[in-house]
Parts: sequence; C-alpha cells; structure tokens
Amino acid sequence: MALLEGKVALITGAGRGLGAAYAQLLAAEGAAVVVNDLGRDEGGCYTAESVVAAVRASGGRAVAHTQDISTVEGGQSLLDTALSEFGRADILINNAGILRDKSFLKLGEADWDAVIKVNLKSMYAVTQPVFAWMKENGGGVVVNTASTSGLVGNFGQSNYAAAKCGAWGFSNVLALEGAKAGIRVWTLAPAAVSALTAPLMDEATQAQMAPEHVAQVVLYMVSELSGQRTGHCLFASGQSVRELKLVSAEGVPGGGKNPGFDARSLAAVEAQVYRPEAALTIMDFAK
Ligand SMILES: NC(=O)c1ccc[n+]([C@@H]2O[C@H](COP(=O)([O-])OP(=O)(O)OC[C@H]3O[C@@H](n4cnc5c(N)ncnc54)[C@H](O)[C@@H]3O)[C@@H](O)[C@H]2O)c1
Repeated sequence: MALLEGKVALITGAGRGLGAAYAQLLAAEGAAVVVNDLGRDEGGCYTAESVVAAVRASGGRAVAHTQDISTVEGGQSLLDTALSEFGRADILINNAGILRDKSFLKLGEADWDAVIKVNLKSMYAVTQPVFAWMKENGGGVVVNTASTSGLVGNFGQSNYAAAKCGAWGFSNVLALEGAKAGIRVWTLAPAAVSALTAPLMDEATQAQMAPEHVAQVVLYMVSELSGQRTGHCLFASGQSVRELKLVSAEGVPGGGKNPGFDARSLAAVEAQVYRPEAALTIMDFAK
C-alpha cells in the first residue's frame, strides 16, 4: 500500500541529486510533489521541469517551481504553488544547498553570505509560511538537511559547516515549537554520490552511494512508519542509517556543591569534564 496517498510534499533543490530522488520516491508512494529548483541543464531548461516530466511519466503527480528559495518571496511562492496546484502542504524537505569551499583565511564575504543564504536562510524563508499552514491544518513533517561537515567539522568548509550545523539548531527549536500542533521536525545528514563526486567513484561505489538509498530514509521520516518521532538527527549513507545526538560528560557538580570552584580546581578535575572517547571526525562517516 502507498505510504503517502493524499499527501502533498514540497522539496527544495529537487532538480537533481538527492532532491530528485526524494521527489521520485515520494511521488511513487502517492504524494503530489512540488519540485523546486532554480538550476538549468546544459540546454537551458529548468532541471525541475525534467524531474516533473519523469514523475508524470511514471504516473505520479508533480509540478515545478523554479524560484530562488533563499528569499522570503521565493519561500512564500513555494507554498502558494503547493496550495494552488494541490491544495495542501503536508511535507517539507529543505534540501537545496550550495558549496563555496575555501580555507578560512581565504574565505571572502561573498562566499560566506551565499552559502549561509542558500543553506540556512532558505530554511527560514521556506519553513515559516509552510509551518504556519501546517499549524492551522493539523500538522505535518519537516526535514532539514544538515551535513556531517557541520556536525563534526571538515577542512575548508567553515561557511558550509556553519550553515549545516545551523540547520540542526533550527530543527531542534522547531521540533519543540511544532510539537503541540502535530508538526514533526527532523534533521538529516545525508551522504550520496553527487554531480561533484560521481567522477571520483567507480561504478560499484556509485551504486552503493546512490541517492535512492537516502530517499528511503526520508520516506521513513515523512511517513507514518516513523510514528510520532520528532527532533531526531539521522545520518544516512548507502544503506547505513544512524542517529547522531549530543551527549554530555559527567561534569563537575554545580548548584552550590562545589564552593572552591575556580580555574585551578577545574584543571584538577579535568577527567570529569571531558568524555574519554575520541571525537568523531568526517572519516568516521566514510566507512
Ligand atoms: N551529496 C552528499 O553527499 C551530501 C552530503 C551532505 C549534505 N548534503 C546536502 O544535501 C543536499 C542535496 O545535496 P546534493 O548532493 O543532491 O546536491 P546537488 O548540488 O546535486 O543539488 C542541490 C540542488 O539545489 C539547487 N539550488 C541551489 N540553490 C538554490 C536556490 N537558491 N533555490 C532553489 N534551488 C537551489 C541546485 O540547483 C541543485 O539542483 C544539499 O543541501 C547538500 O548540502 C549532500
């Protein structure tokens, strides 16, 4: 049985890559999909139009939206398109993203601003009108795209990492604010073959890292398969899926139980302050 019959899904940056795979799978599961992307192919056609054509060719329902979702006008028009075409907005996947990699001292303001705008400000611009609609109409599910680059750090990506870790904080707050209204909010840290990485991978690795595997995790997140779960961050790559969460060390006691507390005494109890295991690095997610 189809998992998303009667639902309407809005997906940003869905003209190719992960977003296009989400659009195909969600449509195959019965959702009507608004495929957003401002990108064009080599022939000058909007990639969103091609994805819509492919969805329709498979018997699904989809419409293209080609505005810039990093602006408030673009975000509002994405919701307007969903409502005028399909009458609802049950699922939002904030997926659009760009990279402008530079080591920090070489990072200019334009590359900082562009990456923060598309990867993070877009979440404000798109989610606010959709969240308001969901609140008035019985709830919904939002998936915000983060990256292990932000969650653990990756050389040369201070702009992208700041935006992607920002997506995690954004989700944490929206999960709290949406709970009463039945709005579930997820963070997704995906890894998949992309236009950029495909030439560096052999065929077997490309198949293993296909965006379609991540799409299955997204389907789990946005459907009844995940029940009432909200506020979680899942890493998804190949067929591997795991939750990423913040953990705390035992720490030194506060609340007046530590009267001699100062910098010197802190140094003496360091073993309690830090967790013993090594921090995760980006390489832990390449396994
Ligand atoms: N591929 C990976 O391994 C990986 C890893 C971690 C995080 N991510 C994140 O997952 C998401 C999808 O990644 P992907 O590899 O499919 O990337 P991709 O570059 O193939 O697709 C991103 C799409 O977003 C679109 N886009 C960019 N700016 C836009 C804007 N202002 N308005 C509308 N559309 C816009 C682009 O045209 C592009 O089609 C991104 O947010 C990316 O940062 C991907």
